[in-house]
Amino acid sequence: MSLPRRRLGASNREVSVLGLGCASYWAHPRFPESRARAVLASALEAGITLYDTGASYGDGLGERRLGSFLRQLDAEIDSLLIATKAGTVRAGNCKLIKDFSPRSIVAQVDNSLERLRLERIGLLQLHGPEVDDLTDELCRVLEKLRDSGKVELLGVNGFAPSIEHAIGHAPFDVLMPFLSVVEPGNVGLAQRASAAGQGVLAAGPLARMSFHPPLKNWLTRPAGLWYLARALYNGPDTFLRARRLKPALQAPGWTPAQLAIAWALEQPGVTAAVFGTTRPEHVRELSQVASRPLPDAVRQRIAQLHAGQRRN
Ligand SMILES: NC(=O)c1ccc[n+]([C@@H]2O[C@H](COP(=O)([O-])OP(=O)(O)OC[C@H]3O[C@@H](n4cnc5c(N)ncnc54)[C@H](OP(=O)(O)O)[C@@H]3O)[C@@H](O)[C@H]2O)c1
Repeated sequence: MSLPRRRLGASNREVSVLGLGCASYWAHPRFPESRARAVLASALEAGITLYDTGASYGDGLGERRLGSFLRQLDAEIDSLLIATKAGTVRAGNCKLIKDFSPRSIVAQVDNSLERLRLERIGLLQLHGPEVDDLTDELCRVLEKLRDSGKVELLGVNGFAPSIEHAIGHAPFDVLMPFLSVVEPGNVGLAQRASAAGQGVLAAGPLARMSFHPPLKNWLTRPAGLWYLARALYNGPDTFLRARRLKPALQAPGWTPAQLAIAWALEQPGVTAAVFGTTRPEHVRELSQVASRPLPDAVRQRIAQLHAGQRRN
């Protein structure tokens, strides 16, 4: 099967409009290997060519799983873009800390290459840096990593203000902001980054399903309990915003998740939406709408609700 593809900014790489996030519970040690592999297999079968993980996901398990499953599944690795993130590391006291020092980033890239079993990382993203972390010295080291062939493309995954600061900023080819129908604040950023020649990956495009909380699933499955705990940890804001959007995300022949993905994919400047799942059937469900335009009535209802939220 093939999915529509889009060029990643001004780079010479094309990716499928859907990317699989090899993160969250997929990268958790409690998620069985066989099920994690089945999700990846379904994504390869659906024609997904973008796989996004991070060194800190599952303390390296996300990268290890992705690297070994791609081989077990005989994937054509050269036709895929494998993305990972550096800068979030486990400190001696077991806490996750940020370390964007050039020396540490170079060492982290070597560790990621080993866990992913790759000679080159398709896209290396800085994982949640602050503006002050984006120093000239770090940028020079990133360029050297690219020149050495260990990394192909460079990017920033994070929040304002650093992700705003990275718009049009060399050497970053790609930005990965949070962007979903529930959290549309980065729609303008996607447009500006794209105009500056950068690819834009929408992270969390389902807003963790906050607009349609699958309470039954959350309460009856280990994966569900994990997502519920994270949602509670993140606070109620997303859920309160999402509650107002719920009536808009309904249309015959569509699931709410499909509508949320179709909305993300039609935002100007967005190259691909990177979603997470623990179920092969959800990969298939979302792949079905990768080239389907959002129904006009849904687009209008969402636009009205967003306008109302901006006024309040
Ligand atoms: N969230 C973060 O903090 C964060 C930060 C940086 C980058 N990112 C990137 O963004 C990617 C996605 O983030 P995410 O996984 O946190 O959020 P997400 O993709 O917005 O939502 C994942 C949730 O959606 C559910 N889901 C997926 N497909 C579904 C469908 N068709 N129907 C109903 N429910 C569905 C999943 O449950 P099931 O398992 O039941 O499908 C899971 O609970 C990550 O993998 C990562 O690469 C995320």
